[in-house]
Amino acid sequence: MRKIAVIGTGYVGLVSGTCFADIGNRVICCDVDEQKIAKLLRGEIPIYEPGLSELVARNTEQGRLFFTTEIGEAIEASDIIYIAVGTPMSETGEADMRYVMSAAKKIGEHLNNYKIIVNKSTVPVGTGELVREVIQANKKTPWIQFDVVSNPEFLREGSAIADCMSMDRAVIGSDNPKAAEVIADLHAPFNTRIFTTDLESAEMIKYAANTFLATKISFINAIANICERVGANVGDVAEGMGLDSRIGSKFLQAGIGYGGSCFPKDTYALAHISDKAGYDFELLKSVIRTNTRQRLVIMDKLRDAVGGLAGKHVAVLGLSFKPETDDMRYAPSLTIIPELIKQHASVYAYDPIAEESAKRELPEGIHYCSNIEQAVTNADVCIILTEWKDVLTMDLARIGQLMKNPILIDGRNCFDLTTMASSSFEYHSIGRPP
Ligand code: NAD
Ligand code: UGA
Repeated sequence: MRKIAVIGTGYVGLVSGTCFADIGNRVICCDVDEQKIAKLLRGEIPIYEPGLSELVARNTEQGRLFFTTEIGEAIEASDIIYIAVGTPMSETGEADMRYVMSAAKKIGEHLNNYKIIVNKSTVPVGTGELVREVIQANKKTPWIQFDVVSNPEFLREGSAIADCMSMDRAVIGSDNPKAAEVIADLHAPFNTRIFTTDLESAEMIKYAANTFLATKISFINAIANICERVGANVGDVAEGMGLDSRIGSKFLQAGIGYGGSCFPKDTYALAHISDKAGYDFELLKSVIRTNTRQRLVIMDKLRDAVGGLAGKHVAVLGLSFKPETDDMRYAPSLTIIPELIKQHASVYAYDPIAEESAKRELPEGIHYCSNIEQAVTNADVCIILTEWKDVLTMDLARIGQLMKNPILIDGRNCFDLTTMASSSFEYHSIGRPP
């Protein structure tokens, strides 16, 4: 049993802190956000993540998981301190490091015995060293020692618990093998492979992994755009490519581009890091441009299918950046819906989970609907932005009857072409023949 403090109780801090508790450690999750901690203390979960509520309840009831805004006390009471605060995109596109630095300062001020400081936030190479310097500069007792380890997080929202409990690998970077061994031991109950390296390489692995996955997505989206022009089917192309084990079938789903709290910010951040290091990462910049353009592919398809949008009833199915999350950060809907409104369309939007978070991000004037049928009734056209389960399983015949014009523009390739050919729909998808 280890005594762990997790600074930052967001998606990553809350999920990984809860998983560490579930394998038998005593974990204090802390945050500067008083409302978030108050909710957690009442037993409410501030984010939508399948299975998290039950896991938090079990571990708080069994006295292994605690929540507090008293960050200093949590640090003093723990031997391993995880930093899991946000590193959002700043105006320049670089990672905004102010939260990490403020957490490091706090750790320094409350360093009352030897501790291992583990960075889980996604950070530029060199941050581990900076964290070490900030702690060193702020510690009150000169002789107390500490080590800094990098242990980046690879979970996906929507499947975060399964990812955490059974990760492909745990990357552990440190220049002190003993500290690395403690963090490796901490991961032993998880079904995972441990990969140890130096601090800088661990930090780089996280950016390289995310930008590589983003590259796969932009690559298949570019192939999809060519498929449309030459009459090929990107679904079959991706399947045929993916059968080669050197390529792999994952992350080859064409659509309206990647969104979420990480790929957009991490691609920009690595482009900045490489510029600063004197290397022009043209490939990555092109991945970003391809993704930005891909979001608007749906607008081209709308224009081709229905002409002008002024006064048209557009049903929008799905708002979050992917299914099984209420996270709206960099969701394609944040680009597409304002464009629809700009073109004077009447937007009727449905999302099973993300409506509340969407309302905080999207402009006024959207009709939010409590189910799919409400959104599509009398619609001139329907667009799919997120492949939620109830969208994948919707009764197409019924939806077609309810719409004024059964035109479906599917940004996520939810339906097979044979089914759609025998339906009443005019169906347009991404990278597949109409
Ligand atoms: P988040 O915005 O959901 O949560 C961050 C939390 O940190 C917030 O609750 C905020 O109030 C808190 N915080 C900020 N400054 C603080 C401080 N000084 N002391 C205590 N708490 C503080 O962010 P997230 O999505 O959990 O991401 C955290 C990090 O993990 C980022 O670097 C991100 O890139 C990385 N990451 C995220 C995911 C994901 O799926 N969301 C996956 C892997 C890695
Ligand atoms: C992603 C990574 O998959 C995680 O490993 C990583 O830890 C995390 O970022 C992070 O660093 O935050 P996440 O953003 O939760 O996880 O979601 P993904 O499932 O990777 O999807 C990201 C975006 O890519 C979504 O908008 C999704 O719709 C899109 N996508 C994904 C595609 O368009 N095609 C695909 O084939 C796969």
